[in-house]
Amino acid sequence: MAFPQTRLRRLRASESLRGLVRETRLDPAGFILPLFVCPGEGVRREISSMPGNYQMSVDETVRECAGLRGLGVGGVILFGIPESKDELASGGYDDGGIVQRAVRAIKREVPGVLVVTDVCNCEYTSHGHCGYVVDGDVDNDVTLGWLAKSAVSHARAGADAVAPSDMMDGRVAAIRAALDENGFPKTPIVSYAAKFASGFYGPFREAAESTPQFGDRRSYQMDPANGREAMREIQLDLDEGADMIMVKPALPYLDIIRMARDRFDVPVAAYQVSGEFSMIMAAARNGWIDKDRVMMETLTSIWRAGAQIILTYFAKDAARLLG
Ligand code: PBG
Repeated sequence: MAFPQTRLRRLRASESLRGLVRETRLDPAGFILPLFVCPGEGVRREISSMPGNYQMSVDETVRECAGLRGLGVGGVILFGIPESKDELASGGYDDGGIVQRAVRAIKREVPGVLVVTDVCNCEYTSHGHCGYVVDGDVDNDVTLGWLAKSAVSHARAGADAVAPSDMMDGRVAAIRAALDENGFPKTPIVSYAAKFASGFYGPFREAAESTPQFGDRRSYQMDPANGREAMREIQLDLDEGADMIMVKPALPYLDIIRMARDRFDVPVAAYQVSGEFSMIMAAARNGWIDKDRVMMETLTSIWRAGAQIILTYFAKDAARLLG
């Protein structure tokens, strides 16, 4: 039946009707808030390109996590800014490292908050690349050892899950084997499986102080043009033992999220990255868009595309609106 019997506007006439037939509903239990932990005490330093986000010392990070209770947010993911950086990223796999200390403190003070840790070396290397550099390029297989050590040390500190974001080949298998050998067979791996070499990471690199000092990440992160290759990355990570997979960034890669959702029966996460957040904030501050409205529209789009876990700097604001 067609017009005039069929009128799709009938079900759009009121908010109650629209609410009844709504196909996609956001749930803050699927949101993960990224946090940047830095040395010191009582430190809460705003990241200029990411309004409302801070580099926080361990005590402030604990307070932030305590403030999440009651909002229904699913958890946090921790990034570390170490006291010092070196060629070997040693701050990353040190049991006394900044992320390890933060995990222990959160687990002691607010044990109910789910803590995921980002496993990568770029915040810990003096040159800002994600691993051991030989002749201007990251050496894959040496880097695997650092990642495995980092993951084990995060698990030992009490992390609920580890999330490798480095894009080395074989890292999930290396991390799974190391976790199992060291008594952490139950620690899940959330793999940043399809992570693209993106211009949208700019503000994060200010936040995490991890801008590469030479070159870029295109020899390990994916070419934004490649969707089929993204499916191979995900398949390989699952074969190596990943428990969940992630697509990153989110909004410019909704097609990849949808392909992943249709092909793989595992939880699919998407990372609405720093640049996605900062663009919305900047336009809103200019009065060009309505922040809350665009925030919810982007999150709904990412969810509709097939991600039921969203890493987002909007986690708290969106949870408040939904609550
Ligand atoms: C570390 C890492 C990055 C992000 C998450 N983990 C930066 C990068 O790869 O350069 C980006 C997150 C964001 O932009 O919000 N490798």
